[in-house]
This record gives sequence, structure tokens and C-alpha cells, in this order.
Amino acid sequence: MRSSPTTGPDAETIARAARTLRGGGLVAFPTETVYGLGARADATTAIARLYAVKGRPAANPLIVHVASVDAALRLAPFEARARDLAAAFWPGPLTLVLPRFPASEVVPTVSAGLPSLAVRVPSHPVALALLTKVDLPIAAPSANRSGRVSPTRAEHVKAQLGERVDAILDAGASAIGLESTVVSLLGADAAILREGAIERAAIERVIGPLRAAAPGPAHAPGMGQSHYAPTRKLRLNAEAPRPGEAFLGFGPGAPNEALNLSPSGDLAEAAANLYASLIALDRPEYEAIAVMPIPEHGLGVAINDRLRRAAAPRGDGA
Ligand code: TXA
Ligand code: MG
Repeated sequence: MRSSPTTGPDAETIARAARTLRGGGLVAFPTETVYGLGARADATTAIARLYAVKGRPAANPLIVHVASVDAALRLAPFEARARDLAAAFWPGPLTLVLPRFPASEVVPTVSAGLPSLAVRVPSHPVALALLTKVDLPIAAPSANRSGRVSPTRAEHVKAQLGERVDAILDAGASAIGLESTVVSLLGADAAILREGAIERAAIERVIGPLRAAAPGPAHAPGMGQSHYAPTRKLRLNAEAPRPGEAFLGFGPGAPNEALNLSPSGDLAEAAANLYASLIALDRPEYEAIAVMPIPEHGLGVAINDRLRRAAAPRGDGA
């Protein structure tokens, strides 16, 4: 299931998608992390439709995507730490939460009314080509129904959102398969709001120690509840399947017949396979999905974060 270089959409298809975005439409596009669902960040009606199509709570802000650091500098003030992180990781799977310029063209609903703005420059060539062509800030959450498993393939987007979006650009499987790391630089202490594709240690090598714990829900909205969840329940740290369960293995110790996130125990491979595996096992003949333990180091930290949220009590299902 790991991504291999695939032929993506041609220049004319990307140009058409850029026109759709400019016209206020919704376009799903590949990034190196997961597929995003894009809308103009400067258009209130397009953003309202984006929240509606995802079924996303209005209090959960969106990440704005741009094609270059220069374009990002027009959206928010970048202090030294922000400039250093951008230089180290953009284009790439890092999102920075910064104060927002009050006069920014990005409409307030993009950041759910908060005085901050989340920004990222993705590295996927199709995402960059689209953002360059459209030449506007594009808000893009993961292209799934709110609370469900994030899409790492165009087919996943089609299955969840189908006719409700105006276009889906297909470039095969996402190489990383886990969302960007979200770092808040709002206070004196930088903090990780969401573990992700870039490890904590790599960020600390650039800007020094981060706050140990994530700040409270007021600063990290959308991180509290059940998320990334397949329809079936998840049972974590399982050593063997129980009757009626699907089994998701990891490493050489897994039963041969089980779907395996990475037979060799490679965490990057496991991350790339995680969401597609959960989607593949989310079938009516199973009562639940049992997942083998994943080591809590490196990318395993972000994988386990997603698995714990996917296994959390469902509540309102947001
Ligand atoms: O890899 C990614 O980040 C993908 C691709 C498409 O870029 N996008 C993505 O977006 O994961 P989404 O909407 O699924 O998750 C965005 C996360 C949410 O947890 C949201 O609460 C947080 O970023 N966020 C966005 N703006 C924020 C802000 N101003 N303050 C704090 N958290 C924010
Ligand atoms: Mg998401």
C-alpha cells in the first residue's frame, strides 16, 4: 500500500481545478501527508460550504495552505522561531499557528474566530502546482467527514465526500500518510498541538525545548474528542484477535494471515499504511478492529496518537 511515484493530474486538469477554487468551489487535492479539501480562505461562502460538507464543528479552525514562504509571510507575522522552522521544514509536513494579521484577507471563520492562524506550505508537487496556479490562500482540512479516518488516496475522498465536492485531483497514495505536526508559537513557550509527520526532537533541534504538554482545549480546538475513527470500534495493544475481530498487525511477530502495517516493523511504512488499513478493515463482517502495539518512539508517537483518538468514546461523533 506504500506510495510509489504515480502519474498525477496533467497541467490542464490542475488549471481547471484552480479555476474551480477561484470560483468558490471545493477541490480535494493530494498532499504529502493526507488528501486535503480546499476552498478559498478569503471567501466566506466557500468556507461555510467547506464546514458543511465535512460536517465540521464551527469551533474547529482550518489550516491555510500557500505555495511559498513569501506567500505565508503576507498572512501572519513571523518571529525568529517561525522563520527558522519555516526555513527548516517548508515545503513539508509542518503547520505553524501564529498570530494573524488583523487586516488579513483570510476570513475569520477559517480560524473559527480565534486571533491566530494555522499556515502550511505542503511539498507535494500537485499541491504546489495547484496553489501556485490559484495564487490565493487556500483553507484545506483533511478531506474526510469530520471525525472519520483521513484519506490517503483519492478513492477514500470519493467514498466519504463523493458528489459533495466539485473536483478530486488523484495522484495516488500519500507518501507520509499522517497529518502535519501542528506547532503553536503563540506564547513564549512553543508547543505541539498535534503530533505528526515531523517528530518533536526534530523541531526541538531548530528552536529548542517545547512545552512538555499540549496547551488546553482553548488553544487546541478540535483535539479533544473522538477522531480518525472507522465505523467499527478499535481495540488497541492487542496481541491476538478475538472472535469476530479484524486484526491489524505490526512487525515480524504478527500472524502471517493478518494485514500488517509493516512486516519489518518500519514506522514510516506503518504510518503510510495506517489509514488505508483502517478503511480496508472497516467492514460489516467484523465487530471491531484489533491493532497490535506500536512502539511509542519516532513516528510511533503520532501513530499512537491517532489510534488512541480513533479508539476514544464516540460522543457526538464530531
Ligand atoms: O497534514 C495536514 O495538516 C492536512 C493536510 C490536508 O494539509 N490537514 C489537516 O487539517 O490535517 P485538519 O483540518 O484535518 O486539521 C487541522 C488541525 C486541527 O486539529 C485544528 O484544530 C488545528 O489544526 N488548527 C487549525 N487552526 C488552528 C488555530 N488557529 N489554532 C489552533 N489549532 C488550529
Ligand atoms: Mg482532519
